[in-house]
Amino acid sequence: MTQVIKTVGVCGAGGTMGAGIAIVAARAGFETVSYDLKQETLERAASQTAGFFGKSVERGKMSGVERDTVLARMSTTTDLGALAGCDLVIEAVFEELGIKQQLFRDLNGVCAEHTILASNTSTLSITEIASACGREDRVVGMHFCLPAQLMKLIEMSPGMNTSQQTFDTAWAFAEQAGQTPVKTQDKPGFILNALLVPFNNDVIRAVEAGVATPADIDAAIKTALGYKMGPCELLDLIGLDTQLRLCEAFYPVTLDVRSSAPPLLRRMVAAGHLGRKSGRGFFTYENKAMFGG
Ligand SMILES: NC(=O)c1ccc[n+]([C@@H]2O[C@H](COP(=O)([O-])OP(=O)(O)OC[C@H]3O[C@@H](n4cnc5c(N)ncnc54)[C@H](O)[C@@H]3O)[C@@H](O)[C@H]2O)c1
Repeated sequence: MTQVIKTVGVCGAGGTMGAGIAIVAARAGFETVSYDLKQETLERAASQTAGFFGKSVERGKMSGVERDTVLARMSTTTDLGALAGCDLVIEAVFEELGIKQQLFRDLNGVCAEHTILASNTSTLSITEIASACGREDRVVGMHFCLPAQLMKLIEMSPGMNTSQQTFDTAWAFAEQAGQTPVKTQDKPGFILNALLVPFNNDVIRAVEAGVATPADIDAAIKTALGYKMGPCELLDLIGLDTQLRLCEAFYPVTLDVRSSAPPLLRRMVAAGHLGRKSGRGFFTYENKAMFGG
C-alpha cells in the first residue's frame, strides 16, 4: 500500500539541488513549498526557476499557461512550520550529518504523523541521518542527479529502519514525477558517487600532475568514451566546494585514498574557484546561473 502524495516540501531549496528538485515536483503537479534559511537565497532560486520555465516555453516544451500554472504551485518560506502540511519533505541542505540530523528532528516536530522525510544526501548514511529523529521508519534516501530538473535518475535507498510502505510511496512519487528510480543499498556514495568521487579525484590529480590541460582531459574522455560532458566541466557544474564536502564525508568512511581530497581541490576551493557558481573553476564562465533551460 502506498500513501497519496499531494504536497511536497523541499529543504535547502535555494541551493543547486533543492531548486531543481522543487522544479521536478511542481512540474509534475505537486504543490511545492520551498524552504531555505534566507529569503534572498530563495528569491535568487525563484528567479532562476522562472528563467528555466521561460526557456521551456521558448523551446515549445510547455505553453505559457502551463508555465503559469506550475509557478502558481510553487511557494517559498523561511519558516520550517510552513512544511507542516507536506506529505513528503525532501532535504537538499549542506552535506553535513549534524545539520541533516538536526533538520530531521525539527521536521519531526512540525510535520504531520504520516509525512515522509527524504534525504538527497550523496555520501552520508540514510540510517544515520534518520537516527533518533523520531520517525526512523518514515525516512528514505532519494538521491537526485545534477541538474535535477533535467536528469531523470533517482537513487532510492532504504535505511535499516525504513518501512516498506515508506519506500514504496517514495518510489511511486518518483515515478509520478517522471523520474527513473533505481534501488541501491544504504552504502556511501550509493551507485554513482561510489564510482564518480574517486574518478573525479583522479582527474584533479592528473591536472595537478600536469598530465594534460582540463580541456584536453575533457576532450579525451568525451571523444573516446562518448560521455556528453568531460569530468572537469562536470566538476565545475557540481561545484568544487561540493566535491570537497563529498570527499570529506566519503574518505573517513571508505578509507579509500582515491576518495581523499587532492591538494589542488583544496587550493581551488580556498581561492574561491568553485566552478560555474563562482564564475571560475577549471574553466571560466560569464553566466553564473546555476542552471539553464
Ligand atoms: N551538487 C551536486 O552535484 C549534488 C548532486 C546530488 C546530490 N547533492 C546533495 O544535495 C545536497 C545539497 O547540495 P547542493 O550542491 O545543492 O548544495 P548548495 O550549497 O548549493 O545548497 C545547499 C542549500 O541548503 C541550505 N541550507 C543549509 N542548511 C540548511 C538548513 N538547516 N535548513 C534549510 N536550508 C539549509 C543553504 O542555504 C543552501 O541554499 C547535499 O546533500 C549534496 O550532497 C548534490
